[in-house]
Amino acid sequence: MSRGLFILFEGCDRSGKTTQSTRLVQALKDMGIKAKLVKFPDRTTAIGKMIDGYLTQKSQLSDQAIHLLFSANRWEAMNQMRADLESGITLVVDRYAFSGVAFSAAKRLDFKWCKSPDVGLIAPDRVFFMDIHPDDAAKRDGYGEEIYEKREFQLDVRAKFFSMMDKSWAIIDAMKDVDLIHRQILLLTKKALQAQEAEPVPIAKLWT
Ligand code: TMP
Repeated sequence: MSRGLFILFEGCDRSGKTTQSTRLVQALKDMGIKAKLVKFPDRTTAIGKMIDGYLTQKSQLSDQAIHLLFSANRWEAMNQMRADLESGITLVVDRYAFSGVAFSAAKRLDFKWCKSPDVGLIAPDRVFFMDIHPDDAAKRDGYGEEIYEKREFQLDVRAKFFSMMDKSWAIIDAMKDVDLIHRQILLLTKKALQAQEAEPVPIAKLWT
C-alpha cells in the first residue's frame, strides 16, 4: 500500500484556506481516498490553548516564546501525522511551518532563527498558496479580530511567503470563485496522487 500525501494550504489571513482545505478533504473522501484534515495551530492541546490565549489577546508572550510554541504545537503532532501518512491517509493541512516563519520574520525576528525549530518536521509534498492582497482580505467577514490582522503586517507576511516558495508550491488566485478554486485544487491534488502512485517518493524532512 502506498503512503498518503501531505497536502498543505498556506496563505495570509482570510484567504480561504479553511474553506478550501475542508472541501478538498470531503472531495477526496467522496472519491474513496482516505483523507484527514489537520489544522495548525491546533488550539485543542495544552500548547494550543496558550497560543489561542495569545492570538485572541487574552495573554501576552514575547515574539520568541510564541514562535517556539507554534513550532512545539507542530512537533507534538508529528508522530500521529507520520503514522497516518504511512497507513495511506492523505493529510490536508491548514497552515504549517511556513506560516510560522512568515509571521515571526515579519515581526523582524531573524529569518534563519525562525526556521531552525521547524527543521526536521515532515515536509509537505504539495503546497497550495492561497494568494490574496491584504486589502481584499480586509473586506472579508471577521477580519481584524485577531492580533495579526493588520494591513502592513500582512503585506510583509505575504512577501515572506513568496521568499520561501519552491517547485512544490502552486499559487492559487484566492479572489476567484470558490467552486473554481476547488476544482483547480482537486485537479492538482489528483495529479500529485497519480505521480506518487507511479513513482513513490518517501516522506521527506523539512529544510534539511
Ligand atoms: P488561523 O487563523 O489559521 O487559526 O491562524 C492563527 C494565526 O496564527 C494566523 O494569524 C497565523 C498565525 N500563525 C503564526 O503566527 N505562526 C504559526 O506557526 C501558525 C501556524 C500560525
